[in-house]
Amino acid sequence: MIIDGEAMVTPAVLEAMANTRDARLREVTAALVRHLHAFIREVRPTEEEWEFGVDYLGRIGQANSATHNEGVLFSDAVGVSTLVCLLNNGATGVTETAAALLGPFWRDNSPKVEDGGSIVRGPTPGPRLFAGCQVLSGGKPVAGARVDVWHSSPEGVYENQDPGMADMNLRGQFTTDAEGRFRFTSVKPAGYPVPTDGPTGELLRAQERHPFRPAHLHFLIHKPGLKTLITQVFVDDDEHLESDVVFGVTQALVGGYVKGEGPAPDGGEGEWWSLDYTFHMEPGEARLPVPPIQ
Ligand code: BEZ
Ligand code: FE
Repeated sequence: MIIDGEAMVTPAVLEAMANTRDARLREVTAALVRHLHAFIREVRPTEEEWEFGVDYLGRIGQANSATHNEGVLFSDAVGVSTLVCLLNNGATGVTETAAALLGPFWRDNSPKVEDGGSIVRGPTPGPRLFAGCQVLSGGKPVAGARVDVWHSSPEGVYENQDPGMADMNLRGQFTTDAEGRFRFTSVKPAGYPVPTDGPTGELLRAQERHPFRPAHLHFLIHKPGLKTLITQVFVDDDEHLESDVVFGVTQALVGGYVKGEGPAPDGGEGEWWSLDYTFHMEPGEARLPVPPIQ
């Protein structure tokens, strides 16, 4: 088709793509072109602005490595990860446990830990945490589910961000017992800034947004026959609960952390906390996500 003016561009592109064999790919790419062209018509970027935008996208890709996922980070910071998550979870009316975004720091191969075991694998100063959780579906225990737990240190850093921390520190994989329960010992996570040394940080600074996430534990719960539940449980009194930089906080995910009085459950000294939380899974596909980092 010979293009006779800007109005012809969108129909020409849609027509060129119309023979895409895969029906879903055809639907998605046509919608992408329609919305992208509408965006361009609304914003009317100058050529210089367009060059900047294309370069920015390229830099997101270039910032990716085996240990850093800038693509996920960007999707998180503009709310797209949370939107996709909430559109795909909770459809069966199970509202007790909302899902939350995976984030860029899940590793697929964290070590298996026995029920009640510790996921602290090296010196990690901070208040200790004793977690006792249960997984239910339709009110019944989910036994034999795989549960991955990962979180930041009391200084607000993940082990993959700190070469001084033991490999796989504050990460572990548990299996639920016959009552759907699992327990573990760790340290209380702190809130932290998301990485800001790449294009996503550049955007946050330009938008005058702070980079902080409220303190949380991550969980991935996987059992064939049920929809994999990926979620986070946030510390009740974190100052950034209302302004999470990646929009991950829903009411169902706040709370359950209690400051301990007297001796800790293991008899140890010092500040300790407990967490008691019940997860509710929905029927659906048990699919593991693609790990954002190795
Ligand atoms: C996280 O919770 O691990 C996370 C989520 C989004 C961006 C950075 C970190
Ligand atoms: Fe996190």
